Amino acid sequence: MEDMLSGMELDGKRAVASQWLQRLAEHHYGMYEHSLRVGTYARNVADTLGGYEPLVIEDIQQMGDLHDIGKLEISSDLLNRPSLTSEEYETIKKHTRVGYCYLVDSLPIAACAAGKHHPRYAVQEYPAELSRGQREAIDKYMPVITLCDFFDALMTRQSVNYAHIEKKDSKQVRSLLEREFPTANEPINILMLEHAKIVGH
Ligand SMILES: [Fe+2]
Ligand SMILES: [Fe+2]
Repeated sequence: MEDMLSGMELDGKRAVASQWLQRLAEHHYGMYEHSLRVGTYARNVADTLGGYEPLVIEDIQQMGDLHDIGKLEISSDLLNRPSLTSEEYETIKKHTRVGYCYLVDSLPIAACAAGKHHPRYAVQEYPAELSRGQREAIDKYMPVITLCDFFDALMTRQSVNYAHIEKKDSKQVRSLLEREFPTANEPINILMLEHAKIVGH
């Protein structure tokens, strides 16, 4: 019975997530593709690390898939800019709060990823229905979501901050990841395997 309920619940969550992703695809296709890649990386890292139940892996993928859903309220013109004025940056920062509010009632775990994936301007609260154990599990996995997000942005988008990094050079990419995420050794090793696939090494 428990499995059946989990299965029904899972179908419902997938349907809600895919509706949001559809809206994102229509708003900005590049952001939609970025979101799916972050979801795939997050799932792969969890799979490779091991020890996660299948339903938890599903939640982890949704955390990645929907982390930037708040960008639905940011104009595509702004999303396409490689550098931002301080005023534009303030506008972009709103996507964490917007994403959290979109998802808080229907997908509370993914809502946390939307709210917390930028530590510098994270939404601090948690959806009321999450238990203490769920909050702790989310806090533990959030650095991996942030790492996957950073890795994908580095490999696919132009950013003036990292223009000096040769994306094909695994040493440069690894040392940047290690500098930005000093406690994520294992996840970085897993992402470097993705890096090798991307650059064809
Ligand atoms: Fe973001
Ligand atoms: Fe992102």
